[in-house]
Amino acid sequence: MYKETKVQPYFDNITLKDFIKSDNPSLESRMKGLRSFTEELFSHGHNLYRRELLSATDTVVKVKDPLTGLTKEMLMFGSNNYLGLATHPTVEKAVMAAIAKYGVGMGGPPLLNGTSELHNELETKLAAFKDSEATLLFSCGFNAIGGWLNAMVREEDIFFYDEYNHASLHNALLGVRCKKIPFRHNDMTDLRRKMEFYADKVNEKWLVVEGVYSMDGDIANLQEISLLCDTYKARLVVDDAHGTGILGLKGSGAAEILPREKVFLHLGTFSKSFAFTGGFICGSKDSINFLRYLSPQYMFSASLSPMVVAGLLAALEIMQSDTSLRKNLIENTNYFVNQLALSGIEATSSSAIVPILVPQQYNLREIALKLHERGLFINAVEYPAVPIDKQRLRISMMATHTHEQIDKLVSNLAEVLREAGMIT
Ligand SMILES: Cc1ncc(COP(=O)(O)O)c(C=O)c1O
Repeated sequence: MYKETKVQPYFDNITLKDFIKSDNPSLESRMKGLRSFTEELFSHGHNLYRRELLSATDTVVKVKDPLTGLTKEMLMFGSNNYLGLATHPTVEKAVMAAIAKYGVGMGGPPLLNGTSELHNELETKLAAFKDSEATLLFSCGFNAIGGWLNAMVREEDIFFYDEYNHASLHNALLGVRCKKIPFRHNDMTDLRRKMEFYADKVNEKWLVVEGVYSMDGDIANLQEISLLCDTYKARLVVDDAHGTGILGLKGSGAAEILPREKVFLHLGTFSKSFAFTGGFICGSKDSINFLRYLSPQYMFSASLSPMVVAGLLAALEIMQSDTSLRKNLIENTNYFVNQLALSGIEATSSSAIVPILVPQQYNLREIALKLHERGLFINAVEYPAVPIDKQRLRISMMATHTHEQIDKLVSNLAEVLREAGMIT
């Protein structure tokens, strides 16, 4: 019998609840517990959560500085707007034109009054982009994942998933009674061992991975994962929130290397390289039709606004036609990682996400605060959002960053990490 992996999901809200000390289980007492927890957490001016942006999410942003209350100009290295499309003039124009024609919202869910010609066009074009037959749009990626699980996964199913899958999967799984088998992050030996153990079971099997992992920026070994799915007869589902628009010759994501029939469903979000909000699932006509009528998160939630859909169509067109964006992005990431190495800072990445791990003995919040003071907008991610020994600065590169901006990031990082004693 294999030993069960200890799962440490990214953003473990169950662990977070354990932080909240309360005398009794009443809601009032728990709210009081949370208040003291956050007061302690954010004492000494450390609260860099929810920094208020006063400008568009671009490589340079204006922020209301939580430390001084004044407007601060900062270099943005914390945004998932990887291709810089949040401020692309063609996208902005498409949004404006859609408002003029359709107004600002649909006022209903897709099966009733919430489908426009734009929604249908986006579904068709996304399906082609993802080399699939059909697409379903959701109000966000979080709901797409929940919508798929609610509709398709049953109690008797066996569900394999990478321990580092996103919180949206862990959260949706809480409400699904199937046999849940997490495997160690990107560990094909562990996965094979676990799939082998259930090899003689005829139950429906699922294997869910991310194309690019959201906190580490590393890529799933999809060739081997696909072979394992063939061997053990599992359906492969790839959540490529962070690879779509970035990886592959067409830019359609990490799964582009696999033949169409090897991926049962592609999950995606519009909140990263598309720079909007919304989510989607691509798959066969039959599976999308099944989800269209059985996903509560699809059926009972209002459709994306037409102005968003028009902007998404423009963004998709740019993603496909302007290959310079993802070339610049990869070039910027490589440049950044190389410059870091020259400064004695270790980091690797295969995508736009570059994590710099900060060992537990160093004060991540102090480091983040110093970077903020120096005008660098970077996200610090700590337990329970990541495992306790894996706290980090999660740096996001954009296609539109200049080398000069990246140099500034590297020199400031080196100074701050040297002051902290992390590098010599
Ligand atoms: C891997 C992954 N899947 C799903 C989601 C959820 O996407 P959305 O922001 O559209 O809800 C995210 C968002 O952070 C993500 O990183």
